[in-house]
Amino acid sequence: MKLTTLLVCDAGLDKRQTIEDLIHSQPSLALVSTVSGSMAREQIGSLHPKLVWIELSPAPVRGLSLLAELRETFPQLYFFVSYEVPDPELIRTAYRLGASDFLDAERWRTDLPAAVQSIQLKHQSESVSTAAGKVVAIFSPTGGIGATTLVTNLGGYLGKYGETCIVDLDLQFGMVSHYLNLEPSFSLSTIDFSHTNFDATYLRNLMTRYDDKLSILAAPPELEDIGDIYAAQVQEILYTSKQEFRFTVVDLPKNLLDERAIATLDLADHVLVITEYNWAAILNARKCLDTFKAHYNQEKLLLVVNRSEWLPQDVLSECRANLNYPVFHEIPNDTKTAKWVNNQGQIAPGHTALGKSLDSLARRIAGGEQLLITEKKEGKKAAFSLPAMFGGGKK
Ligand SMILES: Nc1ncnc2c1ncn2[C@@H]1O[C@H](COP(=O)(O)OP(=O)(O)OP(=O)(O)O)[C@@H](O)[C@H]1O
Ligand SMILES: [Mg+2]
Repeated sequence: MKLTTLLVCDAGLDKRQTIEDLIHSQPSLALVSTVSGSMAREQIGSLHPKLVWIELSPAPVRGLSLLAELRETFPQLYFFVSYEVPDPELIRTAYRLGASDFLDAERWRTDLPAAVQSIQLKHQSESVSTAAGKVVAIFSPTGGIGATTLVTNLGGYLGKYGETCIVDLDLQFGMVSHYLNLEPSFSLSTIDFSHTNFDATYLRNLMTRYDDKLSILAAPPELEDIGDIYAAQVQEILYTSKQEFRFTVVDLPKNLLDERAIATLDLADHVLVITEYNWAAILNARKCLDTFKAHYNQEKLLLVVNRSEWLPQDVLSECRANLNYPVFHEIPNDTKTAKWVNNQGQIAPGHTALGKSLDSLARRIAGGEQLLITEKKEGKKAAFSLPAMFGGGKK
């Protein structure tokens, strides 16, 4: 696989041409563009190169501060730095700022192949580990209890652990782009599966960026467009995004007869079933968990209670008993923040109750922790009984 390369060069045309020729001479490099320092950040954001080559002349100090800035924004990229002469001070600073190699005009023709080979090897071993990107599917059997709010905010917090994308599979009434205040140019219905290069780059180009760490693949804007998306294609999208993103969060439709939803549930590394502590939602969640747990193990199937509020201990215990499945995480009721984030296209700030809880959920998913709030009772299936506060008695 070729390493897509962006050249950042403010030196004259001759120097630029020389470096471009050098890049072309390397079979494993593919030059995507040459840009000026002032355009580098923006172009990296839209072209997604793997390697950025910064020529330091004519202003080496400015070049090095650009390296520092780009490294901080795009820590996953490799950087080459070049300069007319092998100035020891510049070399030391460039390496300290995270450059993979320093190439000087006197020796770059001979040094370049080894420099490229070294990052090729690094890239290959890193690709193997990022290929283990996780798919987190969010499913709520009850409508309107906050599944999409959790999708966008969990996506935002998972971004701290690695680049994340959200796929909005609520094809009919997807709200992800609205909750993040984005206006996508493309959506799931734009995807051309016969495209000869259906790969991560193609998929990325159809996504809309929220920020450097979070992108979304939006639901189709029109109802007519959803008929052409099949389960096998959803699988293809998720396989591909797993290769490219550390986390892929999927907002699922309510309909479990939907083959696209079933394909996603099967392929996901985690399925988060969302409920509330109210009897209708518990009833639905129980029904859904009873079926899911026959297919998925406890590391995969995670029960999350949203909008949780203070309840007397006995009521709480009864709710949990009726769910008959261990609660993985509880998210507090925080109406003010939830409304605000969805209206403003924001991720819940870290100081809010919603933000804190999503931060901790993201940490647990990223770290693979399995601390359960309640333990599952083994053995006989607990019969469903409604807590007294919901009208008790009914069986
Ligand atoms: N933890 C929370 N505390 C308070 N309100 C919340 C919380 N989470 C979500 N909400 C609110 O719940 C409402 C429904 O949210 P959302 O659209 O995310 O639900 P949903 O389950 O995806 O709905 P749908 O069934 O329409 O897809 C919104 O008004 C949102 O602000
Ligand atoms: Mg929703």
